[in-house]
Amino acid sequence: MHTFRVELGARSYPIYIGPGLLGQPDVVAPHVGGRQVMIVTNTTVAPLYLTQTKAAFAAYDTHVVILPDGEQYKTLGTLQQIFDQLVDKRYERDCTLVALGGGVIGDLTGFAAACYQRGVPFIQIPTTLLAQVDSSVGGKTGVNHPHAKNMIGAFHQPRCVLAATDTLDSLDDRQLSAGIAEIIKYGLIRDTEFLIWLEANMEKLLARDSGALSFAIERSCHNKAQVVAADETESGLRATLNLGHTFGHAIEAASGYGAWLHGEAVATGMLMAADLSARLGWLSTAEVHRIESLLVLARLPTRAPAQMDYPTFMKYMSMDKKIQAGRLRLVLLKQLGEAVVTADYEAALLKACIDEHHALSNA
Ligand code: NAD
Ligand code: GLY
Repeated sequence: MHTFRVELGARSYPIYIGPGLLGQPDVVAPHVGGRQVMIVTNTTVAPLYLTQTKAAFAAYDTHVVILPDGEQYKTLGTLQQIFDQLVDKRYERDCTLVALGGGVIGDLTGFAAACYQRGVPFIQIPTTLLAQVDSSVGGKTGVNHPHAKNMIGAFHQPRCVLAATDTLDSLDDRQLSAGIAEIIKYGLIRDTEFLIWLEANMEKLLARDSGALSFAIERSCHNKAQVVAADETESGLRATLNLGHTFGHAIEAASGYGAWLHGEAVATGMLMAADLSARLGWLSTAEVHRIESLLVLARLPTRAPAQMDYPTFMKYMSMDKKIQAGRLRLVLLKQLGEAVVTADYEAALLKACIDEHHALSNA
């Protein structure tokens, strides 16, 4: 087992990474608040990992909420189901919520924990690659609005993150690639050594080589923990973790949540951000091709849906959380390994970038 810490003063917490971590009472015990535990999971993950997970919490008064599976259920309505169970079972302020699943379950459960009785402890047990390398770490929680991704939420840090890497054995290849998109993101925004490693080891990752996967998860968590520790509530640096997300969130919302996986939309969005960075003279065309090749190697999409023209992108991007004083700030690449958040680009360049992608998607 490898352990990283997210250093946030009194709210610091460990990220445990390794195989065989589910079902170990000793690992979770230091992070459980009182005597009541509520495990939140979904209809896909429950048959796979609920029994093992429950074993770790056998010493507590434990109940389970099993939600429907899918990004389309990351809503306020689904949140109500968690609150109903908490109230019905008389959960008290020192209870602990446990998120067992991918990023959707993690974001929903974390937000429920942020709101219930104005904040109760929660534990993240991420079971997708994307959740193990990104969403379970850092305390961003929330739900989607029908027209705007992740628009309603709160910062609420977990008490610990338990990434049981053997749960990835049951993940399908498409979900694996979606997780790799967020891994590539760390290479692009701040870790060129890792980017080079990813170019050399992508086949191993796709083949689920355990050494390569463990290294990629650990390196990603290390990067994420550093960024979160430096800027917990996204006053600056943390926004760079959103490379490609402004374009990607537009794709997810416009396509109907769930049609495109989050990681897939981020992959296409990262290429669009790289393209705009090249139009600003920051990246070379060769570097944009290099990024595209890596995304393609990872079996990720690099073209937005054919119907997504400039007005469609702008309709959804105009709801982005990075808008400030009416200006759309984008995460762009000054160079490989260095991201900036800027509104300092000509609108015509953004239009040209989207128009060209739209044409390529329809070619
Ligand atoms: P997901 O939660 O929908 O999980 C993907 C699919 O895999 C689901 O069908 C799920 O039931 C299934 N699954 C989960 N674990 C499995 C396993 N071990 N074996 C087989 N199937 C399994 O999607 P995701 O990619 O994990 O997360 C995407 C979500 O995370 C998006 O809503 C995104 O906005 C959010 N996100 C949040 C943050 C953050 O900082 N909070 C960061 C990145 C992404
Ligand atoms: N995934 C973006 C963030 O955690 O800030």
